[in-house]
Amino acid sequence: MIAAVRLTRPAALLAAAYFSMLGAGSGNAGAQTPAPNTAMSSPAGVDNPQRAWQHWTLNCQGCHRPDGTGSAGTAPSLAGTVARFLSVPGGREYLGRVPGVATSPLSNADLSEVMNWMLWRFDKEHIPANFQPYVAAEIGQLRSAPLRLEASLLRAALLKKADESATP
Ligand code: HEC
Repeated sequence: MIAAVRLTRPAALLAAAYFSMLGAGSGNAGAQTPAPNTAMSSPAGVDNPQRAWQHWTLNCQGCHRPDGTGSAGTAPSLAGTVARFLSVPGGREYLGRVPGVATSPLSNADLSEVMNWMLWRFDKEHIPANFQPYVAAEIGQLRSAPLRLEASLLRAALLKKADESATP
């Protein structure tokens, strides 16, 4: 007897997206990989990485793509860059007020978890050593003042500062 378990098509697609997100370099994607919730260690501020990933897939990846690389003209890449904002004054607040974050249908608790997960998943190299994870109350406060048209100007100014302060 073969094939006791058959994934439904949407589940299979979701699983494929998940495994591709784990990164081709890890070399262990595929049948041998344990279930998602055991495959990832929990970064600070993330109670449940699998739940955070699901929220990301449903609410964010449509614009930012599953691997956070973004879509030209639609959403910037977060991969390898997003945590740089944490090192410049105002950057932490910007991340919580940017429209795609602030206006997300997620609850404050779920959104703060996605934010912490996203920083860790897509740009852990740039997370400052003294980083305090986002918490629900902070996200609630930040998203109550969503950025609008000024988002892209503020974004450019913050990235300029990050470039200037980056050590070579
Ligand atoms: C409708 C498309 C869209 C969706 C959905 C979306 N974003 Fe974005 N996101 C953008 C765009 C566009 C920007 C650039 C800033 C701006 O002009 O709004 C951005 C910027 C960001 C930034 C700031 C990083 C930077 O380089 O500017 C973060 C962090 C972010 N998004 C995270 C998320 C998360 C987390 C979600 C899901 C809860 C999400 N986004 C959903 C389009 C989207």
